[in-house]
Amino acid sequence: MVKILLTMAKMPKSQSLFVTRLYRGRIAVPRDLEKTCLGIAADDSAGQRWSRQHNYGGYTSYASLNDLTYRASIFADLERALSKHVAAFARELQFETAGKKLKLDSLWINVMEKDAVHTPHIHPHSVISGTYYVTVPPKSGVLRFEDPRLAMLMAAPAKKPNARPENRSFVDVTPKPGMLLLWESWLRHGVEPNRARGRRISVSFNYRLD
Ligand SMILES: [Fe+2]
Repeated sequence: MVKILLTMAKMPKSQSLFVTRLYRGRIAVPRDLEKTCLGIAADDSAGQRWSRQHNYGGYTSYASLNDLTYRASIFADLERALSKHVAAFARELQFETAGKKLKLDSLWINVMEKDAVHTPHIHPHSVISGTYYVTVPPKSGVLRFEDPRLAMLMAAPAKKPNARPENRSFVDVTPKPGMLLLWESWLRHGVEPNRARGRRISVSFNYRLD
């Protein structure tokens, strides 16, 4: 009887279900990565044009270059480092991959100038997405994640301003150079305006099962 009572006392009163994980890692910023990103940005006229036409507020190689890991060895090295973190995150998420492997699908440079924003979006056709921060001036915009159940909350009350991150509807993460963030690709997120004078440089990527 005593043993049963003790066991019951240890049981939590509530548990987390349908959890959304955000993975944080750190990779020391390679010395020439910023220079390489800016060099590619300066040379990639198709990417510059696409960024202008889509009011990107800077430059992205997203729509113009799909070979950065072949183009510059610094990106191949980065991919190796990223893949270790992605594998660790996949283990944490307990994916049943059925013999398939998580592989890099796309990787692109973002150079966001003053006042640039990136409206909320998801990354379709991918499993894990993420961003690695290279150059981050103070106040250059947070990455904002949304509760994926927003459309179903109906009469749920708003959360207290000091609610724990896992209880909030929106969670802001302030990037720092060398920070790596990974999330499942269906998770909606956006970048708040860059209020710094300087540009923020990051590398984003998608992994898919193959
Ligand atoms: Fe994104």
